[in-house]
Formats: sequence, structure tokens, C-alpha cells
Amino acid sequence: MGLILTTAGESHGPALVAVVTGLPAGLRLDKEAIDHDLWRRQQGYGRSPRQKLESDEVEVLTGLRHGSTLGTPLTLVVRNRDHKNWLYGMSPWPPEGEPEGKGTKAVTLPRPGHADLAGVMKYDLDDVRDALERASARHTAAIVAAGAVAKALLGELDIGLESSVVEVGGVRGEAAIVEAIDAARGDRDTLGGIVEVRARGVPPGLGSYATKEDRLDARLAWALVGTQAVKGVEVGDGFALAERRGSEAHDEIFRDAGGFHRETNHAGGVEAGMTNGEVVVVRAAMKPLPTLMRPLRSIDLASQEPAQALVERSDVSAVEALAVVAEACVAFELARAARDKFGGDALRDFVAAHRAYVERIDWAPR
Ligand SMILES: Cc1cc2nc3c(=O)[nH]c(=O)nc-3n(C[C@H](O)[C@H](O)[C@H](O)COP(=O)(O)O)c2cc1C
Repeated sequence: MGLILTTAGESHGPALVAVVTGLPAGLRLDKEAIDHDLWRRQQGYGRSPRQKLESDEVEVLTGLRHGSTLGTPLTLVVRNRDHKNWLYGMSPWPPEGEPEGKGTKAVTLPRPGHADLAGVMKYDLDDVRDALERASARHTAAIVAAGAVAKALLGELDIGLESSVVEVGGVRGEAAIVEAIDAARGDRDTLGGIVEVRARGVPPGLGSYATKEDRLDARLAWALVGTQAVKGVEVGDGFALAERRGSEAHDEIFRDAGGFHRETNHAGGVEAGMTNGEVVVVRAAMKPLPTLMRPLRSIDLASQEPAQALVERSDVSAVEALAVVAEACVAFELARAARDKFGGDALRDFVAAHRAYVERIDWAPR
């Protein structure tokens, strides 16, 4: 079946859950490393005070003993600390007593750009909250926890990932980005941007051209566009390749004592749905966040009259957070492709299969 991630959980419910199946036994996990990635997701200039409120931490319910995976389903839980203010409003069972705390009044003001309007129509809901709670990007905490596990697995193959912010609101460089975020906050507006993920040490041949589902570029795009607010993905030079001639678009092949190599990486390390041994480079474009402190025009679903959209505490920009989430998405897809290729019930078998393969193809990371 391969490596599979299933997530569950609402934004202000008791917790978020990630279940990872298909891990080998014997992989050592480090709670601090997972918590560090959860912390990184909550940082960034332009985030709302909610991030300070949450300070996420992972709990493990199944699949781990004394820090080592058992080869059984791994269940990761990230509690929503803010749930204590929503005990009535987000109670899984019919709540008792008088309504108190947050979430007790139905939301009827759908935000343009969010799940709100189509969500209530599709699921026959009276309260927009029933749609937004799951649609919200709080969900990405579960993705990041699972991504940290994927990174631990990739680390056993000496594969490392890094992520960065390329631009926010159309500008580049820290000072310009801070200025743009401050200006947007002043106007009670929001910003999107572009992030980049790079993976080093990835051997050639992860993914396959055999079927669409096997193509690594397809899997990366699926995982990234499947993330809240991501509207575009580029692998390597992506859209810019469309403007170039072939002679300037492809990475010529060379060979020396260290094996095959390329001198350029326009392909971003992926050709025909497979890694080619170069650094994997993927970019994701994020739209501006749909919750504006100066709300957009909408319709009140209770009165059917024109009204302003819901205003809820929200980020001005979450591009830095998206970089961490995108890193987790890419890590999980690379780990999934590595599990497909190297198999093994035990970590040692998985690592040995990788070693035998890179020896056969005479490949080493540069
Ligand atoms: C890390 C991250 C944080 C986000 N924070 C917010 C937020 O504070 N307010 C908001 O309105 N949208 C936020 N979003 C975006 C919405 O969740 C997203 O736009 C919405 O679910 C609709 O989905 P779509 O944009 O994919 O169409 C965030 C997205 C990400 C990836």
C-alpha cells in the first residue's frame, strides 16, 4: 500500500490527528524535532496572535515504542489549546447547560475566497462554522507533524530539505517584505506570496513515468495544491520554461569520476516524473488570505441581504508558515516515493536497498 497519510480534526475542536501507515519498523523519532517544525509553522511576520496562543506540541498515541516506530500505524495528535474557549461551541456531543464561550452563535456571513458559501450549500449547513472549521489551514499542523516524520525517514538516506520565502505580495527581500506586510496590515488587507522547497541528496529514479499517479511531479503538485491557499506549483523553472527554446531549457548530461551530472538544473531535479539526481526544486504560489479585517462584500445567509463578510482573528500573511508546510508536503511525497522504491519492513532493509541501488547506478550526491 505504500506510505499513506490520513488527517482529521477541526480548527477549534479538541485536536488534529495524523495517521501515517506504511512506515518501516525501527525508525527513531525525536519529539523535539517534530515540535520544532510545529513551532516553525507558527512563526512568521504577519501572523495573528492566535499562533502565540497555540504553541503546538505532538502527542503519539500508537505505532511508537520508546522512540522507535513499530511498523504499525503511527497516530500523531496535536491538541488545539484554544479548544478550552470553545468547549460549548465545538463540543463533539450535544452540549449541556447554557451556551458560553466562543462559537455559540451561527456564522452566516460567507467570506469570498473561503469554504464558507459553497460549503454550506454542498453539506446542507445552517452555520458556516461547520464548513470553515475543517477547511481552515489549522489543518496544516497535522501535515507538518507527519512531514517531520517523513523527514526523519529521509534523513536515514541522507536526504535533507530546506524551504524559504521567495516573495510576499509581489516584493522580494526581508526589508521590502516587512514593509509590504506592515502596509497591508495598516490597510486591514492581506497578502499572498511564493515559497520554495529544495531537497538535496535525492537519488535518481524516485517516482516513475509508468502511470500519471506514479509521476513525482504530479504527486508534488497534488500535495501542494491540496494545501489551503496554494493556487500554483512550479517544478524547476516551471512557467518560465514555456518562453525558452529547448537549447536553453534542458540540462545537458555530463560524466566524470563522480558519475553523471548536470551543470544546470532547469528541470528542478525531476524529468519524466522521476528524480534525476539533481536538487529537487519546487515552488508554490499562495493567494492572499480570504479573511480581511476590512471585510469584502457578501450576503448574509440569514436575511439574504447584502452584508460584510465574517471578520475573525486572522493573519495578514502566512507565507512563511506556508514554506514550512510546503517543506512537509514535499518531504512526505519524497518519503512516499522512497518507500515505493526501497520497501522493507525494517528500517535496516530500507536503508540497505537504497545503498545497493545507488551503488548499482554509481550515484553519489554532489
Ligand atoms: C499556513 C496557512 C495559514 C493560513 N491562515 C489563514 C488565515 O489566518 N486567515 C484566512 O482567512 N486564511 C488563511 N489561510 C488560507 C485559507 O485557509 C484558505 O484560503 C481557505 O481554506 C480556502 O481554500 P483555498 O484558498 O485553497 O481555496 C491560511 C493558509 C495557510 C496555508
